[in-house]
Formats: sequence, C-alpha cells, structure tokens
Amino acid sequence: MRKRIVSPSMLSADFGHLDRDTRMIDRSAAEWVHIDVMDGVFVPNISFGFPVLKAITSATDKFMDVHLMIVEPEKYVERFAQAGADLVVFHWEATEDPKGCIELIRRSGAKVGISIKPKTPVEVLDDLLPLVDLVLIMSVEPGFGGQSFIEGSTDKVRALRRMIDERGLDVMIEIDGGVSRHNAAELYEAGCDALVAGSAVFKAADPEAEIVAILNA
Ligand code: DX5
Ligand code: ZN
Repeated sequence: MRKRIVSPSMLSADFGHLDRDTRMIDRSAAEWVHIDVMDGVFVPNISFGFPVLKAITSATDKFMDVHLMIVEPEKYVERFAQAGADLVVFHWEATEDPKGCIELIRRSGAKVGISIKPKTPVEVLDDLLPLVDLVLIMSVEPGFGGQSFIEGSTDKVRALRRMIDERGLDVMIEIDGGVSRHNAAELYEAGCDALVAGSAVFKAADPEAEIVAILNA
C-alpha cells in the first residue's frame, strides 16, 4: 500500500494565532504543511507571501508544501525555496514556460510540483511528467478554502496514476480542495499520495484527531 500523507492547509488557520496553530500541526500526525500563495491575478483572492511563510517555517520542522497560485511563477520560485519551501508547486496554466520553471525550482534545491485546475485535462502534463516530483490536482477552483469537492476529480487522479505507473515514473499525486475524512479513503485508493485539507482540519473540534481520521479513513 502507498504511504499516506496529509498536508493541512494553513489558509484555514487562525492568523491571530498563527504560532499556536503551526505548533499544533507540528505536534500532529501530518507530515506536510500546505501553504497557499495567491496573487489576486491568477486567482480572485490574495493570501500571503514570504514573511508569513518564514514565520510558519520557523515554528515547525514539517515538510513545507508551497502551492503558488500566481502568474509568472518563474519570477518567484527561487525566493520561495530560499524562504523555506521544501516543495514548490506552480500552476501549468500560469506560465508560458513550464520547463523553464521546473528547471529553476530544481536548481534551487527544492522538490518540483506542477498543478492543474479542475478544467485542465491531465494529458497536458504528458511530456512534463518525467521532469517533476509531484502533480497537484485541484479538486475545487483555486482561490478559496471551504468549497465542495468537484466529483470528476477522482477520475483525473486515476487517469494520472495510470499514466505515471505505465511509464514506471516516480511521481507523487496530491489533491487539493474539499477533502475530508468522508472522501479520503477513495482518494488514497484512486492513487493519491498526499491529501490537502484546510477547513476539514481547522474547523474540526479536535484538529489533531481529524488529521488521524483522514490518515486512517
Ligand atoms: C484553494 C487552496 C486550498 C484550500 C483548501 O485554492 O489551494 O489549499 O486551502 O481548502 P479546503 O480543504 O477547505 O477545501
Ligand atoms: Zn492549495
């Protein structure tokens, strides 16, 4: 069985108590921490940037999974690696030059991830798959936490898992948006390695127990 990872999304944390919430995740069974960077151009929302990433990084030793929802990511990927990103994920739709962006992340020493929006088919990634460590499938339109899971997303995971396995590649699959303990089992079984969960974790009465529930779904 594939190893299961949960990546709680700090977008749903309480920013008045960011240190407390980060330390809670640090104690938890989650291996990764998901950081959503939004520029108000690629998506209709603005979240946070380098100083907040640095504050989170200094409060935890977990693997920093940084999801860039910004146009022209090639301008910033190196700075995100320097600010503590262990994995830098950019959007296929956000750049004219995905290969150049992959190369910049690679040279910065971080792991490389590429993400596609719900309406983008997995086939666009065909020639890029051998170059990346991870594909992030968006299961909501990027921009906001708390949205409902888009149903066809599980089929995209299955199709992508087949593409990866048929070619004998070592590429992880992560899914982001509307994930909870109720769909976690199906998503891991469809071929996901990592599940991002924002509101499911942070709105739970006991976030640490919720992370365990997702891992054991
Ligand atoms: C949305 C972000 C997600 C978001 C997920 O654009 O990429 O990471 O935080 O939130 P939930 O889990 O609440 O759907
Ligand atoms: Zn995200």
